[in-house]
Amino acid sequence: MRRVVCPGSFDPATNGHLDIVSRASGLYDEVVVAVLINVTKKGLFSVDERVDMLREVTKDYGNVRVERFHGLLVDFCAENGITAIVKGLRAVSDFEYEMQMAQMNYRLAKIETVFMTTNPLYSFLSSSLVKEIATYGGDVSGLVPETVIGKLRSRLAAE
Ligand code: PNS
Repeated sequence: MRRVVCPGSFDPATNGHLDIVSRASGLYDEVVVAVLINVTKKGLFSVDERVDMLREVTKDYGNVRVERFHGLLVDFCAENGITAIVKGLRAVSDFEYEMQMAQMNYRLAKIETVFMTTNPLYSFLSSSLVKEIATYGGDVSGLVPETVIGKLRSRLAAE
C-alpha cells in the first residue's frame, strides 16, 4: 500500500491544490490530504470548515481522505503509515523553502518528498491571493471550486 500525504493550510483549497491531489490519486494507492491545525495563525476559515470543503470537493476520488494534523508532519506520517509527502511546485520561488523542508523531513524521519510541477494554468495561484481578490470583490471563478466560491462569498459578506 503506497500511502502519501498532501499537506497544507488549505485556507481555502484552490484548483491548484486539487490538481495536485487528483494527480497524486492516480499515482498512489491512497492520498491523505492533511490540513495543518496552526494555533498561532487564524485563518479565514476554521480547520473544520477547510476539512469539510476539501471532503466535498474530493468526494469522487475513492482513494482520497481528508484529515487534520498538528505538530510535526513527519509524526503524522509515522502515525498513519505514510511514506512520502507530495507537494506542488509553482515556480522557482517555491523551490528554496520546499527543498529545505523536504531535506529536513528526510533528516528527521527518512520521509521522501515528491514534487509535482503545477499545472501552468495554476502556477500563479495561491490561497492568499484568492482571499485578497475575493475580499475586494474580484472574480475568483475558475481558480477555486464552486463550493469554495460560495463559502468565500458568505464569509466575506458576514465580515
Ligand atoms: O499550505 P502551506 O501553509 O504552505 O503548508 C505548509 C505545511 C503545512 C506543509 C508545513 O508548514 C508543515 O509541514 N507544517 C507542519 C510542522 C512541521 O512539520 N514543520 C517542520 C517542517 S520541516
